[in-house]
Amino acid sequence: MSDNTPKIDEISGTETTGHEWDGIEELNTPMPRWWLWVFYASILFAIAYAIAMPSIPLVNSYYKGLLGASDRKQVAQEVELMGGQKYELFNQLNGETLEGIEAKPELFRFAMAAGKSAFGDNCATCHGSGGQGFKGYPNLNDDVWLWGGTFEDIRQTLTVGIRSAHDDTRFNIMMAYGREGFLTNPQIDDLTQYVLNLSGQEAEQQAVLRAGTVFQTNCSSCHGVAGTGDQSQGAPNLTDNEWLYGGDAADIRATIYNGRQGVMPNWNERLSPEIISALAIYVHSLGGGVATPQDTNTEDAP
Ligand code: HEC
Ligand code: HEC
Repeated sequence: MSDNTPKIDEISGTETTGHEWDGIEELNTPMPRWWLWVFYASILFAIAYAIAMPSIPLVNSYYKGLLGASDRKQVAQEVELMGGQKYELFNQLNGETLEGIEAKPELFRFAMAAGKSAFGDNCATCHGSGGQGFKGYPNLNDDVWLWGGTFEDIRQTLTVGIRSAHDDTRFNIMMAYGREGFLTNPQIDDLTQYVLNLSGQEAEQQAVLRAGTVFQTNCSSCHGVAGTGDQSQGAPNLTDNEWLYGGDAADIRATIYNGRQGVMPNWNERLSPEIISALAIYVHSLGGGVATPQDTNTEDAP
């Protein structure tokens, strides 16, 4: 095509670029006006930004920008802040007892705030944003504990983890009694009824009777003769009808048949002892732990 008069596409009425492939022609549609304005605006912004902020490398230095912004300056400011009151409160958490922290309302409030924020960053993925837990991930809001719910217990759990890589990890095994052939299927069926009965749920009484000896022989060393559990071994109370892995017959049977081995990471390598203390304060308060300074006065009037 050699003539220079612009060609108009018949259907759309738009000018074409004059390019044609096997009868297919290219329309010459201009950019939408809004797009062009955004494009020009970003060019202007880039120029203004380069003038205002550190941008151009020079031989021995760099262009520092009209605003003199600098990450280093910001860090210096933050360090200065830390040097102040916050930093002192932070340091006070190290090695402090629950009573020591609760005795200083300002320190307690600081620990709660720091603990809550660290919980959102590190724990909520597994325990839920409010610590409500999921199947296999304990609810931290109730007063039901596997490994103990005192401030010291919680701090220890966080430090060494549960079945974790730490040398002193909290550790105990709920074996796969069925899969590994320690008990027969009928024995496991009976035990399922036995555990249902322990937790106050409806159960087949003949099966409960049959399972009595099996339970005492195989289960009581960890869960206790009465099935009330043992926090020093992380063995859940089976009588409270609160379940980590579910409390209907199918869940209980699956637990006994396949075993359970929940893993909680050790945090001593990732978090400082001060943050672990703050987390323990926060989790302790969630679990309806002992009184906090705000709610010591909950007794009803006579
Ligand atoms: C990768 C998942 C995961 C993360 C992340 C995690 N946990 Fe856990 N946590 C678990 C599991 C699973 C258990 C239960 C272990 C068991 O079965 O004994 C547990 C147990 C606990 C317990 C013991 C509860 C009891 O009843 O004794 C506490 C306390 C706890 N977690 C607090 C935390 C805190 C605080 C954080 C954040 C620093 C955290 N967890 C992060 C998975 C996790
Ligand atoms: C060596 C100690 C030990 C013995 C023996 C043992 N358990 Fe466990 N059991 C545990 C531990 C520890 C857990 C928690 C596992 C976890 O947190 O991942 C558990 C969990 C359970 C649970 C789940 C509770 C829940 O909240 O979901 C049931 C049910 C249970 N055991 C029943 C039994 C029965 C029945 C026997 C006997 C056949 C038995 N256990 C023997 C240690 C033991």
